[in-house]
Amino acid sequence: MPVVSAPGKIILLGEHAVVFGKPAVAMGIDMRLTCRVTEGRHNMVNGQPLNGRYHAYVAAAIRDHWSGRPLDIAIESKIPSGSGLGSSAALAVALLGAMSQMRGGIDEEGVARAAFDVESTVQGRASPLDTSTSSHGQGIFVDSVPGNDLLWHVKRDSRQWYVHHCPVPDLTFVVGFTGIRAPTGPLVAKVKRYVDRTRFAREVVDEIGEITTEGAKRLQDHDVVALGKLMTRDHNLLAILGVSSPELQRLVDAAIPFSYGAKLTGAGGGGSMIALTDRPEKVSEAIARRGGVPHIVRTGIDGVRAEAIDG
Ligand code: MEV
Repeated sequence: MPVVSAPGKIILLGEHAVVFGKPAVAMGIDMRLTCRVTEGRHNMVNGQPLNGRYHAYVAAAIRDHWSGRPLDIAIESKIPSGSGLGSSAALAVALLGAMSQMRGGIDEEGVARAAFDVESTVQGRASPLDTSTSSHGQGIFVDSVPGNDLLWHVKRDSRQWYVHHCPVPDLTFVVGFTGIRAPTGPLVAKVKRYVDRTRFAREVVDEIGEITTEGAKRLQDHDVVALGKLMTRDHNLLAILGVSSPELQRLVDAAIPFSYGAKLTGAGGGGSMIALTDRPEKVSEAIARRGGVPHIVRTGIDGVRAEAIDG
């Protein structure tokens, strides 16, 4: 019986723009989702028959990436769904990781590719950022050109991404969850409509790409002051694209006085924000005072991995 887990993620820079092939930086975090999988008589999810409407990611993973006997799947998650912290990617990665394990051993790249495929099918449009981060863990730098520490190259229609391993310096991030669950697909579609229609939105996407390239360098120099400023600028550009919300803005504003920078993370529209800080307790208090749920995250963690059966 494979028991396989995969982490959630935070995006430091570049969400949404990465869907258009721009760069992005993300890290795995210490919130994990676990799948326990056995072969059964029917496909089941947490004791219920598989239903494509409620279990879209599981249904797509089984339909497109499994040819064995029906699967009985038990999912346990510490990543709130719709929180912007990568719960859907972690589900696809952990389940495909379990399937890979049943075929003889977890193939990280194969799992990342299949999980991207599942996410694209269900979400409608996606980048490989979330699924690569959940598969590989640590840090991920996606770029439009190949560089050092290349992990894999992904193509879809006219877009392509070079996915790199990115070393994770010792930085402290606080996540603030607004409590509002916002599915990614409609937000990605909204940005696409805006970008298709206006040159202004295309320029905003280009600028997010430039900020991200600069931020990836500042991350490796450990220049938290410059990195924080770039994160806050990125947030303001994402707000212009229409993916922030009053609740996210409240938490970002609350965190800024005690942080190097703060921004929404993930698709936005609700979900979560992150702050880069060396005063995590102060930031957590400020987030909680404005009605958010704070979490001081640990980074530099494993990607998809097999768990001990009783663990
Ligand atoms: C969602 O976590 C990140 C987005 O850029 C979508 C994607 O990359 O697939 C909004």
